[in-house]
Amino acid sequence: MEKIKKIPKEDGLDHSLSMLREGYMFIPNRCQSFQSNIFETRLLGKKAICMTGNEAAEVFYDTDKFARKDAAPNRLIQTLFGKNGVQGLDGEKHKHRKEMFMSQMSPYELNKLKVIAEKQWQNALDKWGNMKKVILFDEVKEILCKSACQWVGISVQDEEMTNLTKDLAAMFESPAKIGPTHWRGRKARNQVETNMSELISNIRDGKLKISENTLLHQFTWHKDLNGELLNTETVAVEVINILRPIVAISIYINFLAVALHHYPHERDKLVKNDEDYYWMFVQEVRRFYPFFPMVAALVKNDFIWNGYLFKKGTLTLLDLYGTNHDPKIWDQPDEFNPNRFAQWEENRFNFIPQGGGDYLLGHRCAGEWVTIEIMKISLNFLVNHMEYDIQDQDLSYSMVNIPSIPHSKIILSNVQSK
Ligand code: HEM
Repeated sequence: MEKIKKIPKEDGLDHSLSMLREGYMFIPNRCQSFQSNIFETRLLGKKAICMTGNEAAEVFYDTDKFARKDAAPNRLIQTLFGKNGVQGLDGEKHKHRKEMFMSQMSPYELNKLKVIAEKQWQNALDKWGNMKKVILFDEVKEILCKSACQWVGISVQDEEMTNLTKDLAAMFESPAKIGPTHWRGRKARNQVETNMSELISNIRDGKLKISENTLLHQFTWHKDLNGELLNTETVAVEVINILRPIVAISIYINFLAVALHHYPHERDKLVKNDEDYYWMFVQEVRRFYPFFPMVAALVKNDFIWNGYLFKKGTLTLLDLYGTNHDPKIWDQPDEFNPNRFAQWEENRFNFIPQGGGDYLLGHRCAGEWVTIEIMKISLNFLVNHMEYDIQDQDLSYSMVNIPSIPHSKIILSNVQSK
């Protein structure tokens, strides 16, 4: 019998408040003080295990050991995820649903999205030349919402687009907030889900004709493992699982602009239009800046890992931000250095801004390729297609507020095409 080791344990009745206070650094701070890649704490009145690093990610993404059903807290379901979405499924059900997502991520579809998003960027840039100041975060959210709707096959009137953009953004801006901002997120989700369910019913009833070559068509007519159509509410949740995170890429695009501002020498390398360097820069932005702090799962059945006992049902959190800054994986992790990706030895667990493991068998983000493509074209616009000034403003970002967004939301002035 393997000898059971004690998991380092944090004293105290509950640490949910500390988690709110420490945000992205909650797990890294404790791993540092325990000098351990694992510790036990209490969150929302329950025992929880927190883990960080490559090895921890490898075990966390072992679907024989961890499950997702009922792992996410209700406030996340009511805002970010929605009910009965792919995030909370396990096993064959999950794989079948995830195939529906991944079938839309072919090179052909990605290129289609790229062409759409480039056109939307150009339209916005033509408009910005006449504006005194441009709040990049707000403008890019709208570029991405228009691109996402067009790609998915949803037609939205111009006057509704602004509201839809705000509602989708409220879903990712509100989960970790308290008070009115949080309730705004719940209301936004209810509203968009209702409208989307109605749209799907209209397609199924033949009242609305849409092209077969669209994601909306694929999702509307997708059948589950029993050969049944999903209910309209679930289709709505899954379509929103495409629209919402595409709009959320605006956060990474804000960080692209921050990085260009703080590391101006990088621009010289990017104007050369070197595809590889674009990719490395984008990867470094995804590694360096905070976005999702952690992901959650429940232990499926008792097991032992590295001598530590994981009891069935225990909430377990994997540290995404800390793993992307782990000195065991990254040399000088707190330095912004795109070149590190030139020699990077990729595995599915050492670089996990959008989760790790396998796309189909596990819960790794379905939109990682979409994110990278959209970031690359946005970077190209920021560097090669426009000139702008960033006047005195607060470009700092919080390590506590989730998601973290540069405080000024990046105000551009004197924007011109070049
Ligand atoms: C904005 C940048 C993005 C970030 C930081 C991000 C991050 C993540 C993370 C951390 C997960 C959870 C991984 C896990 O549970 O282990 C996830 C899952 C997911 N993401 Fe993303 N994501 C982004 C963009 C996208 C995009 C653009 C799409 C769709 C086009 C997308 C669709 C999904 C879906 C459907 C899942 C659930 C996968 C599953 O449960 O199997 N994401 N994402």
